[in-house]
Amino acid sequence: MHDGADTNEDVWKSDHLVAQWVAGTGERERRRSEQRRLMADLLPFADDEAFTFVDLGAGTGAAARVVLDRFPRAEAILAEYSPQMMAEGRHALADYEGRFQYVEFDLAEGDWPAEVPTGVAAMISSLSVHHLPDSRKRELFTEIFQHLAPGGWYLNYDPVSTDDPVVESAWLRAGDRQDPQAAAKRHHRTPEEQRRYENHVRYMIPLAPQLELLRAAGFEGIDVYWKQLDVVIYGGRRPEEPPG
Ligand SMILES: C[S@@+](CC[C@H](N)C(=O)[O-])C[C@H]1O[C@@H](n2cnc3c(N)ncnc32)[C@H](O)[C@@H]1O
Repeated sequence: MHDGADTNEDVWKSDHLVAQWVAGTGERERRRSEQRRLMADLLPFADDEAFTFVDLGAGTGAAARVVLDRFPRAEAILAEYSPQMMAEGRHALADYEGRFQYVEFDLAEGDWPAEVPTGVAAMISSLSVHHLPDSRKRELFTEIFQHLAPGGWYLNYDPVSTDDPVVESAWLRAGDRQDPQAAAKRHHRTPEEQRRYENHVRYMIPLAPQLELLRAAGFEGIDVYWKQLDVVIYGGRRPEEPPG
């Protein structure tokens, strides 16, 4: 974890930085397509089932659109706090008009918008939870649990950190082999890239305590459904209620 002021809003509510991030979407999403599809495949719905799900910190809807593709009768509530990301997302999701709505929600606050009902069938998050301090992660997982229907699933795709220097160097070694430019990029960040990096890692924590937070919130079926180096998909479901 890195010290220093929380710069998250400065990054995600900046026209310039959001434009830069959006410009890299095509290449990033090509690399993530398998994980995106897996997240959709993990949801327990029939192909033609109608249901509503929530994407927390949805950005331009990169995770949600794969669920919308996988389940043609599904509808998405995209919770986001950046007007710039919402504007980009409305444009990017034009083909899904009528099947999604953005709602303004600051995940760092506990004030859930009225547009997110209780009894939601499923929730996902992708690359947003690591931007929250631990105390807020804990509260958020409980709030997600409370907003899910019994049997409802929550899945999170996110990077994790490690406290083990041996693991960290193994992650770096493999990452550098997979991307021959990675080491140079890491060692020669511009001041802006350095600020973004610090924002990226500020509240990132290891995997185990995050699974513990899910457990403490009441989830069952908790697993790490996918993992490669420092990126994971974990989740679980709110237990079914006994009939009666
Ligand atoms: C790395 S992007 C990921 C966007 C999208 N989920 C995806 O997978 O492409 C992080 C997103 O989290 C959003 N975010 C960060 N902090 C947030 C907060 N406190 N409340 C709501 N959204 C937040 C940002 O605005 C941004 O859209």
